[in-house]
Amino acid sequence: MSIASNHAASRTARMVAALRGRASARPQPLCHDPWASALAGEEGEALADAFSPSFPAFELWMAVRTAYLDQYVHHFTTSPQDFGQVVILGAGLDTRAARLARPGVRFFEVDHPATQADKRARVDALPGYPRDAARYVACDFETEDFVTKLQAAGFEPGRAALVLWEGVVPYLSEPAIRASLRRIAHACDERTVLVFDYVGKRIATRDKLRADDERNMALLDGLGESVVFGSNDVLPMLHDEGFRHVRTVSFDEACLSLTGSYDRERMFRFQHVAIASRTACALL
Ligand SMILES: C[S@@+](CC[C@H](N)C(=O)[O-])C[C@H]1O[C@@H](n2cnc3c(N)ncnc32)[C@H](O)[C@@H]1O
Repeated sequence: MSIASNHAASRTARMVAALRGRASARPQPLCHDPWASALAGEEGEALADAFSPSFPAFELWMAVRTAYLDQYVHHFTTSPQDFGQVVILGAGLDTRAARLARPGVRFFEVDHPATQADKRARVDALPGYPRDAARYVACDFETEDFVTKLQAAGFEPGRAALVLWEGVVPYLSEPAIRASLRRIAHACDERTVLVFDYVGKRIATRDKLRADDERNMALLDGLGESVVFGSNDVLPMLHDEGFRHVRTVSFDEACLSLTGSYDRERMFRFQHVAIASRTACALL
């Protein structure tokens, strides 16, 4: 069952916000999100506690994911790229619009209506949060076209955009993923850059999983947010849907570049970040 069919606000969004908050509170943190813990709330903390025994490096993994994608926002919103639009698909409790704001850059947050309503209520209750930092667009990726909805909110398809799709693709059906990719490739400016993370195929097919992974997949099933999509090679799908410049980076590689450390036992090698565009650009 995906979040689209259970109509509840995403609880995994609260869990990952709690992990971002914990990572941000470390000495010399990899990522810095001053609002994450407050947005996650008690339920987010409890979920992070429930998942962490089966994935001890979960907090580090979240910190790497946040910091790695933050780099892309910095890179593409500053000179010489100067992209004026950042679209965050499946934003959950993402605070980049507040943390990484720059003059002349418009942030859009697209999310499932239930999650977005929950996020907006949490942000409204958070003293000091710049709630107008983003324009909010409610959309179910399984059934709706987010580009049309984005345009109604002021998105300009003729201007280059950076599109982040963080921690979302594993929860979507392949047809919905392909439809979204097609819209980014063909309805947005050709310089648009998409960055998303994904898990290996056997996580989704549950093929010979380790006991720890089995346990966390069962916990996600219990939240109504099952992992249903995984891939060992997203290039064919990105090519099919119109992208011509693709790079993939494993979480081990991302973690190594950010921390200088590697540990096989973290099990980061099956999870990747993909960067894709129709035209060549300086992909980090
Ligand atoms: C694990 S959370 C990630 C949230 C955020 N990107 C982050 O990394 O903190 C998964 C997100 O995917 C969104 N999502 C899942 N299925 C969706 C759908 N069918 N349509 C729109 N959003 C969806 C949820 O609402 C939630 O915000």
